[in-house]
Parts: sequence; C-alpha cells; structure tokens
Amino acid sequence: MTSEEISRGIAELGPWFYRFEFGNGLQTTPAIPETVVDIFDTRLRMATSAIDAHFGNRLPAIDCLDIGCHEGFYSLAMAKRGVGRVFGVDAREENLNRARFVAKAMGLDAIDYKQGRVETLAADQGRTYELTLFLGVLYHVEDPMRCLRQVAAVTRELCILETQVVDEVEGFSEWGSREWTRPYQGILAVIDETGEFDAGNRETGVSPMATCPSPKALLFMLKQAGFSRAEILVPPADAYEQHARGKRVVCAAYK
Ligand SMILES: C[S@@+](CC[C@H](N)C(=O)[O-])C[C@H]1O[C@@H](n2cnc3c(N)ncnc32)[C@H](O)[C@@H]1O
Repeated sequence: MTSEEISRGIAELGPWFYRFEFGNGLQTTPAIPETVVDIFDTRLRMATSAIDAHFGNRLPAIDCLDIGCHEGFYSLAMAKRGVGRVFGVDAREENLNRARFVAKAMGLDAIDYKQGRVETLAADQGRTYELTLFLGVLYHVEDPMRCLRQVAAVTRELCILETQVVDEVEGFSEWGSREWTRPYQGILAVIDETGEFDAGNRETGVSPMATCPSPKALLFMLKQAGFSRAEILVPPADAYEQHARGKRVVCAAYK
C-alpha cells in the first residue's frame, strides 16, 4: 500500500482502539485515554514471556488463534514475533475490517481473520492450535464456563488468558442441611453492560450481560474446562496499574 492509501485508510476506518505505527509518521491514535493505553504493552510483555518460556525456538512451527482479536493488535504482535501462522477471530466484522487493513498495510500475510463467536469456537474451527490468546474477553461473556470449554477444546498446548477479576469471596455454603456445608471455589460476579452494549460499544460481549470471576474461580474454572495446569503470572514492576494491583490478571493455562 502507498503512504497515501494508508493515510486514507486510517482516516476512513477510525476511530481506532489501538495505536498502530506504519512508518513515515503514519499511525492510528487510540480513542481510549492515554493513561489506559499502557494496558496493551503490559499484557503483551506478560504474554510473550510465558510464550517464549514454553515454546522457545519453536515459534515458526506453531499456529496461534487470537480469540476476540479486535483490530488485531496481538495477532500482529505474534506474527511479528515469528509465529508460523496467526488466525484471528472476533464477533464483530467492523473490528475485523480494521484488523485486515492494518495487516495489509504492514505487508503481513501470515495472518487470517474470520468472524466467529467464542461460544461456538470448537465446531467453527474444527482444529486445534498450539497457542491460543484469550485476552480481555472472558469478562464480557455471559456464559464463561461454556466459553472456557470452547477455548480449551481448540488449545493444543498453551492458552494465555487475560481478564478483569473481582475481589475474592471465600466461605462455606449450607448444602441441604445446616450441618452440611461446601466451600466456595471463588465467585462469579454478574455485570450489567447494557449501557455500553446498547450504545454500540465495540468491546462488549455479544449480549448485555457479562460475568467477572475472582482469581480462585478463574483457576478452578480453567481446570474444569480441560486445562491440566493454570497459573496467574506475576506482573512486571512497571505494569499497568490494574495488573499491578491484581484487579486484572494474565494467566497461563496448559493442556
Ligand atoms: C475488550 S476487547 C479485547 C480485544 C483484545 N483481545 C485485547 O485484549 O485487546 C473484546 C473483543 O472481543 C470481541 N468479543 C466479545 N464477545 C465475543 C464473543 N462472544 N465471541 C467473539 N468475540 C467476542 C469484541 O468484539 C472485542 O473485539
């Protein structure tokens, strides 16, 4: 693409969610506050250190599925890092159109984007991927367990998951009699995203109801979904403030 074509595409497809730099001073400007933009870099650094530790020099030989890929920020990062082939899936065609433009403008042809929902991922894909990314999506879906089972079904080795989490709630529930009790395995909060959803926000789930897990609930659910081991990664010292405070977590889940 010529600089003129890139410049026109940036203007026509905006507003943008991420910053993409195309060289020659051409770039997109994220519509979110500058103070929040750091979130993308923290996630990327945490994800890539777990990915490198697991795959080492195998990256060119693996395929990656970026679930809820939005404008393709992380798909692009994986392709640039040398992952063999990257596939991005998102519920919103309007996000994918931007993702396709960015990949084309950067001359990256190792990425394919396709519309789809995480709720039906396994049947839609009909295959597995050594690496899956499930970043910033879990807390926007109304049926997180169904989604995690789908993500586990398409993951062959490692899934990097990032999500907002709610404060831990622990205790015991009565279970049929005051003498019988069961411990809670963390908590799932129910969140109303009606306002954002009805306003056409491009980051919400596909329905106005969302849920948000506590860290213990997340780890328990990942095990139930079919991952043999899952761990919450320690954020770097200069992490985005929400990761630093443990309000968002990045998880490595292994098959
Ligand atoms: C908050 S954005 C996160 C984007 C990106 N993964 C990141 O971490 O920066 C959520 C993305 O997931 C997509 N999405 C939401 N619900 C989805 C679903 N049920 N299936 C597939 N994509 C979904 C949205 O369209 C949006 O692009």
